[in-house]
Amino acid sequence: METVLSGMRPTGNLHLGNYFGAARSFVKMQDEYNCYFFIADWHSLTTHPKPEDIQKSARTILAEYLACGIDPDKATIYIQSDVPETLELYLYLNMNCYLGELERVTTFKEKARKQPDNVNAGLLTYPTLMAADILQHRALKVPVGKDQEQNMEMARKCARRFNNIYGVDFFPEPQNFSLSATAVKVPGLDGTGKMGKSDGNCIYLYEEDKAITKKVMRAVTDEGPQSPNSEKPEVIQNLFTLMQIASTEDTYKYFDEKWNDCTLRYGDMKKQLAADICATIAPIRERIKEISSDTEKLDRIARLGAEKARESSLRTLQEVRRIIGFRTY
Ligand code: ADP
Ligand code: TRP
Repeated sequence: METVLSGMRPTGNLHLGNYFGAARSFVKMQDEYNCYFFIADWHSLTTHPKPEDIQKSARTILAEYLACGIDPDKATIYIQSDVPETLELYLYLNMNCYLGELERVTTFKEKARKQPDNVNAGLLTYPTLMAADILQHRALKVPVGKDQEQNMEMARKCARRFNNIYGVDFFPEPQNFSLSATAVKVPGLDGTGKMGKSDGNCIYLYEEDKAITKKVMRAVTDEGPQSPNSEKPEVIQNLFTLMQIASTEDTYKYFDEKWNDCTLRYGDMKKQLAADICATIAPIRERIKEISSDTEKLDRIARLGAEKARESSLRTLQEVRRIIGFRTY
């Protein structure tokens, strides 16, 4: 079975975009692949978060992914900082990465511009840590978005270089695993492109029906269809796309016909859309509450995940130590 690995940044709560764009695909993947899903809390150190926030944000995201249906009996779900083995591989890989190429990574340049008084070495070697995350499990497929392509290229370089330097065929080159075949892009409610945390246009998975309904009812619209079968402007198309994602095909068709014959009332459409989004989110929200309240269980799951991940990482590390010329543990 091929190994798939995905890293999640612990930056707040999951929204509908994260669910349909990522989490739901992970849930499917866990039946088809040997999956590792981890929370990249070491990576978040590049911005120096407060100690009390570190535990909290990792636990929040862990609970939410579990609530979406990631099953710790099928996939290995763990917190990056629970697997110290990663850091040894990070050190070895850093020996084969060059200052020039790390400085050329766009995400580094962007971060350096955003936080000019904190251009630390961790920021520079972010791609090496990511390579260690991946290569420690010898993962073949990594679901990532476009913004991670350069980091993925560095991970492949790390694998290739290690193999070349030591004349081995040990690390496979990890490939970007496009989610676009199964995942959909979830638009925002404000008429702009996509739902995203930084755009402040999200419906979160923890939200109650009332709050969700309020957000949907406030979605940006226009003066309504002007002529039969006309093309939908972006704000309206977004509502329809959301409906395609959250509602049944019949519901979608019903409102699409109303658009086409100019009898559509946005209020009715939004009411239906709100009800369907609530129906999608409600069971997830209830599971988030249930899982978050049982901190012992959450701890047990994190511990079990870490154990499995450490075992896999150590297996790789033993070989790496032997190949480099160190004693194995
Ligand atoms: P955000 O910062 O908005 O929470 P991230 O960039 O951290 O989103 O994305 C985490 C995962 O969720 C990625 O795999 C990304 O592709 C997916 N994702 C985020 N927003 C959307 C969206 N609107 N539609 C589809 N997928 C999304
Ligand atoms: N850099 C990724 C992001 O910003 C998170 C991440 C860290 C990751 N390590 C990874 C993703 C390993 C995939 C594989 O989203």
